[in-house]
Amino acid sequence: MRQSVIEIVGLQYGDEGKGKVSCFETNEATLIIRSTGGNNAGHTVVYKGQKYALHLIPSGIVKQKAICILAPGMVIDPSVLIEEIKKLQNGGIAVSPENLMISDRAHVILPYHRKMDEYQESLRSNPVGTTKSGIGPAYASKANRIGLRMCDIVNMNFTLLHDELNSFPKDFFEKNNIALESYEKEMIDLCISYRGELFDYVTNTGKVINDATSNGQKVVLEGAQAWGLDLDHGDYPFCTSSNPTASGIASAAGIGPMNIFKVIGVIKAYTSRVGEGPFITELNDAAGLLIRELGHEYGTTTKRPRRCGWLDLVSLKNAVMANSVTDLCINHLDTIGKVGLKIGYIKVCTAYSYAAPFDPYVSSILDGSTVHPLYNEFKGWTIPENCHTFDQLPEEAKTYIRYIENFLDVPVRYIGIGPRDEDMIVRNSFSGPIDKEDYME
Ligand code: IMP
Repeated sequence: MRQSVIEIVGLQYGDEGKGKVSCFETNEATLIIRSTGGNNAGHTVVYKGQKYALHLIPSGIVKQKAICILAPGMVIDPSVLIEEIKKLQNGGIAVSPENLMISDRAHVILPYHRKMDEYQESLRSNPVGTTKSGIGPAYASKANRIGLRMCDIVNMNFTLLHDELNSFPKDFFEKNNIALESYEKEMIDLCISYRGELFDYVTNTGKVINDATSNGQKVVLEGAQAWGLDLDHGDYPFCTSSNPTASGIASAAGIGPMNIFKVIGVIKAYTSRVGEGPFITELNDAAGLLIRELGHEYGTTTKRPRRCGWLDLVSLKNAVMANSVTDLCINHLDTIGKVGLKIGYIKVCTAYSYAAPFDPYVSSILDGSTVHPLYNEFKGWTIPENCHTFDQLPEEAKTYIRYIENFLDVPVRYIGIGPRDEDMIVRNSFSGPIDKEDYME
């Protein structure tokens, strides 16, 4: 058994900057895999001065070294994927079946899933605030065993498409002015056109993944969304429809637990969230607006302004344990430092109170109106020019980092200090205050 898989998982509510770490870890990797969710995700990567917004393909594609895989657990909207491939190609990035493989088992998102997403949101007493990209309906059909897979498109087998459309309520078609018979034909024609574009990319990715792991080759498993949005462990029902946890993304890729070498938990130096749901450390004041503006906190996928607040170490403690996190990556250290300087302090939530100090596990069902965050305060900083090592960071920033790693009992190995690929401090030889082995490869 060879342990060669590095997982990259979000520990908050998504948008932690996983793409950047994944891109960094792509060096020497044979495969970069995405295995859950679909184009609800958005990764922005700045590489060699060019900005790439990716929704489905792992960010490491820009480095042109490893093979990128879209694994069985994904729900793929072919229209978005085809567009993404074309944009990369037009930007000078070679994308072909040589370096991009789509699992024949991955499920397909079609236009009616997007419409159904909107329809279901309109019926809910408390809307989730989904990305309206059809994720929930596609996963629902998958669980209901009537969802179309990539292999069905390749084999032109549209029986499940018929069954799925017939499972929807009449009201859905009426509200969308859809005549079922002609619509089914229209969808089949659309699938056939997707087949023409994607045929050569669709394959049995299980074999490719097993070959790499059994040979001990470095494999990067890039998470999308995050712990707080997990269907089982996140803030249900204000969550996504997959399991973007360390175990969930491995299972969705077809990788067993003993192959995992390292789990990098990615966080921001503060918290942000898009969509509805509890957010205990949310700031509905000038400080929240400042974080949003300085951190450019607007959704990559929906452009929605993100809700912003302080770092929540109580929730992160739980996330670190449940995801077996071995290393932390903290992004936006530059942003929170500026916020601290502008308003005079940075806060970090270290406990909840609810009449008495509270148990973190209830955080998912109670919102900030009943649970109150208790904070520790820190001072702000400015990241100096040409800062490349932990030692070159201002003392205040080091204090912040050390406090977080001690609280969470996991070393902070990666520190994001700006948007570019190279704006990342990597602590190769960790010699922090907690007694952890050095994670040098
Ligand atoms: P869905 O995944 O589109 O169904 O959306 C469900 C919830 O997850 C909503 O609150 C979305 O805003 C949130 N969400 C889904 N994907 C992401 C992501 O990649 N980043 C941040 N939030 C996300």
